[in-house]
Amino acid sequence: MTDLFSKFDPLIEQRETLLSTGLTDPFNLVMERVESPTVAICNGRRTILLGTYNYMGMTFDPDVIAAGKQALDDYGSGTTGSRVLNGTYAGHKACEEALKTFYAMDHAMVFATGYQANLGIISTLAGKDDYIVLDIDSHASIYDGCALGNANIVPFRHNDVDALEKRLRRIPEGAGKLVVLEGVYSMLGDIAPLKEMVAVSKAAGAMVLVDEAHSMGFIGENGRGVAEAQGVIDDVDFIIGTFSKSVGTVGGFCVSNHPKFEILRLVCRPYVFTASLPPSVVATAATSIAKLMTGADKRAHLWQNSQKLHAGLKALGFTLGTETPQSAIIAVIMPNLEQGALMWEALLKEGLYVNLARPPATPANMTLLRCSLCAEHTAAQVDQILGMFEAAGRATGIID
Ligand SMILES: Cc1ncc(COP(=O)(O)O)c(C=O)c1O
Repeated sequence: MTDLFSKFDPLIEQRETLLSTGLTDPFNLVMERVESPTVAICNGRRTILLGTYNYMGMTFDPDVIAAGKQALDDYGSGTTGSRVLNGTYAGHKACEEALKTFYAMDHAMVFATGYQANLGIISTLAGKDDYIVLDIDSHASIYDGCALGNANIVPFRHNDVDALEKRLRRIPEGAGKLVVLEGVYSMLGDIAPLKEMVAVSKAAGAMVLVDEAHSMGFIGENGRGVAEAQGVIDDVDFIIGTFSKSVGTVGGFCVSNHPKFEILRLVCRPYVFTASLPPSVVATAATSIAKLMTGADKRAHLWQNSQKLHAGLKALGFTLGTETPQSAIIAVIMPNLEQGALMWEALLKEGLYVNLARPPATPANMTLLRCSLCAEHTAAQVDQILGMFEAAGRATGIID
């Protein structure tokens, strides 16, 4: 018998070597209690959270929590069914209405997760004879959506407009073309030149899908994302997003103005062949989305936090993923996995949680400490965070 696990042996060995030094497992942290969007108890210690994607801090919003509790009372704990059978409650429709209002778009379709939204929409739109042109650093859910639909995949160099244009030119005349982009790339926290990319895609006759998972609620005048900030939202055919970041719960969605959009509800397998979100979840999502529409002050504060942390880390001598802060994600580049894991643990001992990101999730084999800021972080917390980075950085020798 061939052991089907043998392909994981190199990873098992790498993990065992790393953990044999007594290092805390960076991928097995338990939050014993969560006090707020920015503070939790981890390993018995009060810890500042700087790796949660809870950008707008909606997880403890009193209106959001009240809506969830009310829906539990009114509708029960789950729908036990698909959206196309017994799984569409009034709350699911209200959530889709909230999205349509938020984005000022005609159609909205809610999925169980953002992962499933990409899986479903991409695989249903682009099939065997179609072409998907995508940034090479695209999220796993985008690649998995391409694979599920069996489309021809044409990757181009990260954020390179000329490379995108060249790839588009090589696609056979008359073939179906979908360009898939992200607003913010979550590993380095950099944004896409959507204005130029959407223009070249449209000129080549391609449809455009933008995943705004890490920009919704924060970037753009109304928090609609990078496409809004760069003035091209009306030229984008599909926006994908998630409820697991700024919205503060779980779920995914696609919004669009395409006149035939509603047919997707009958042909999109990751929408049809799975149970719908629990009523409490869609109630929290709808309430949160409505509140994000009036979140201008929070957006402004989050930008201040991002600028302060970026400038502070740079001044301390850390190597960062971007020259200037472009989003609420600031990536600190580590020399290698071993030192990255040591620095991660040193920060945890200081009382700070960040994400350790490693290949294959990261571009160019990088190990990163990914910091994601929250609108609820105070300026004093950002100062504290910088102090922790300084102490941990010196203790591990990452900075002098
Ligand atoms: C760009 C991007 N798209 C989609 C997703 C998936 O979202 P969800 O957590 O809702 O499955 C993520 C989550 O990490 C993401 O970063």
